[in-house]
Amino acid sequence: MNNNLLPLIDKLTETHSLSLAEYECLITERNDEAAATLAERAVRIRREIYGNSVYIRGLIEVSNICQNNCYYCGIRASNSACERYRLTPDEILSCCEEGYELGFRTFVMQGGENAYFSDSLLCDLLREIKSRYLDCAVTLSLGERSRESYEKLYAAGADRYLLRHETANAEHYAKLHPAELTHENRMRCLRDLREIGYQVGCGFMVGSPYQTNAMLAEDLKFVETFKPDMCGIGPFIPHKDTPFRDHPAGSVELTCYLLSILRLIHPPLLLPSTTALGTLREDGREMGILSGANVVMPNLSPTSVRRKYLLYNNKLSDGSESAQCKANLAARMRAIGYEIVCARGDIKK
Ligand code: 5AD
Repeated sequence: MNNNLLPLIDKLTETHSLSLAEYECLITERNDEAAATLAERAVRIRREIYGNSVYIRGLIEVSNICQNNCYYCGIRASNSACERYRLTPDEILSCCEEGYELGFRTFVMQGGENAYFSDSLLCDLLREIKSRYLDCAVTLSLGERSRESYEKLYAAGADRYLLRHETANAEHYAKLHPAELTHENRMRCLRDLREIGYQVGCGFMVGSPYQTNAMLAEDLKFVETFKPDMCGIGPFIPHKDTPFRDHPAGSVELTCYLLSILRLIHPPLLLPSTTALGTLREDGREMGILSGANVVMPNLSPTSVRRKYLLYNNKLSDGSESAQCKANLAARMRAIGYEIVCARGDIKK
């Protein structure tokens, strides 16, 4: 094998760390051999920790009402073409009930930032879910909140929190978001969540507008130093009613390459093979797993609202993307040598 990147890959495998310049080089100089070597090592190291298990999470998209105006996102506040909805606490509980019967032991409540989901509403809901389903974990993905709010939600039973950092580079952050959303506050939230005791997930889009390989290297360095429990990455996909409508989508190939690197940076990381990957390619989620991912998050939202939670064009919401089609997902995972498991799926440290 003629692979000039092998020394870097060896160093990463052994030390779980590279310099910024080395990460950038690994990305810029990538080739098929390097991708194959990284994937092989990522899969091997994951197998040592998680065997051939793939964890599943039931994703409940609680509301697409959002006060923010992120330039990339289809549910941004100014998108008047977006048909808005929110689920009531009872509807969310019904999703959990259905999910539990289907074998889900983690529920992820994700939604836009909106005052309706107040601390008191969420705390009541969390207490109800946690008392009904003692063997389940609840993950929240409801954006930036105050430290006090995160504390209350944790005390009410939330186990995990997903808040993608979106980009580790502050100038890049400012090109993806309006001025009122700051990189500084994003990082403050992640630090607070970690200190409070949540299992924390960060993450970023691959191929977002104005992103460079040097910036992706910063994202990798951030994961290396912050050591999150989870990291969600997926290709950027334009949405027709956003300012970034004419920007090209990110690549599946680079996303998979980065999944392998992330696995080697932090071997126990919970790494989802995301819907965005499955949206760009029929076998995108399988490719993610074969690159080192170990989580999939099928959709548990009521079918009537699913097509409204459109973060980007053509977002998948049916087929093996839906929780009801768990058997189909299981068959697809089995076909590539993996088993989906009915367990909370906490990080193994
Ligand atoms: N393409 C890909 N991912 C997107 N997200 C939002 N909009 C898009 C898009 N157009 C991601 C963001 C956010 C997560 C919920 O979805 O990273 O954190």
